[in-house]
Amino acid sequence: MVPEIRLHSAHPGSGLRRLAEQGGGAPPYWAYQWAGGTVLARHFLDRPETVRGKRVLDLGAGSGIVGIAAALAGASKVTGCDTDPHAIAALGLNAALNGVSILATGFDLLDGPPLPDVDLIAVGDLFYGKRLAARVVPYLERYREAGITVLVGDPGRAFLPLDRLVPVADYAVPDFGGAGDKKAARSTVFAFDIAQADAGAPAFDGARARASSAETC
Ligand SMILES: C[S@@+](CC[C@H](N)C(=O)[O-])C[C@H]1O[C@@H](n2cnc3c(N)ncnc32)[C@H](O)[C@@H]1O
Repeated sequence: MVPEIRLHSAHPGSGLRRLAEQGGGAPPYWAYQWAGGTVLARHFLDRPETVRGKRVLDLGAGSGIVGIAAALAGASKVTGCDTDPHAIAALGLNAALNGVSILATGFDLLDGPPLPDVDLIAVGDLFYGKRLAARVVPYLERYREAGITVLVGDPGRAFLPLDRLVPVADYAVPDFGGAGDKKAARSTVFAFDIAQADAGAPAFDGARARASSAETC
């Protein structure tokens, strides 16, 4: 789906189980490419004008697929953020493998203000948990309030805030986090916005908009 990008990926001989046996903390999400990140990566490479010359923050970077695509598409600076130290290591290895430079941070940024020097924040597949989603939404709202573009890539995880999302494009991508069979599933790039109701506008029907106006690629 994204042949331009090479990633160190998990396979049966990787021995990832050793991490769990050592009390390795978070699940090794960084060892896989998720549908949400994959769709953003495809979008950045197909529409480089989305990120060209911009300073991009890849939130929940995992393998780094989103930030790597942004860098390959001409972003002027890419920062990858992930709270899992193994993801930070994977991000460095994968960036090097693709010949791009990505600044990495392992800090949990979600309760703070928007990072300075960011023109676009990209969020690939971060709405899989209720508590996490409840923290991500206000964090993204702070970026929008500061006039910063927020793009979300997601195949429709359980806690996706559809009422804040306007579909931009969708693609068929392998979904590692879905049924586990890695079959291609539709996954969408959305623009995140502050709640329409807050602006006095009628409530936004994200599901209907997704069905009717998503660009199919
Ligand atoms: C499902 S993976 C998606 C990875 C990548 N964006 C992709 O689409 O392939 C979610 C990632 O978010 C990271 N994560 C979870 N909570 C986070 C937080 N508060 N701040 C930054 N990253 C976080 C996890 O460690 C994991 O690597």
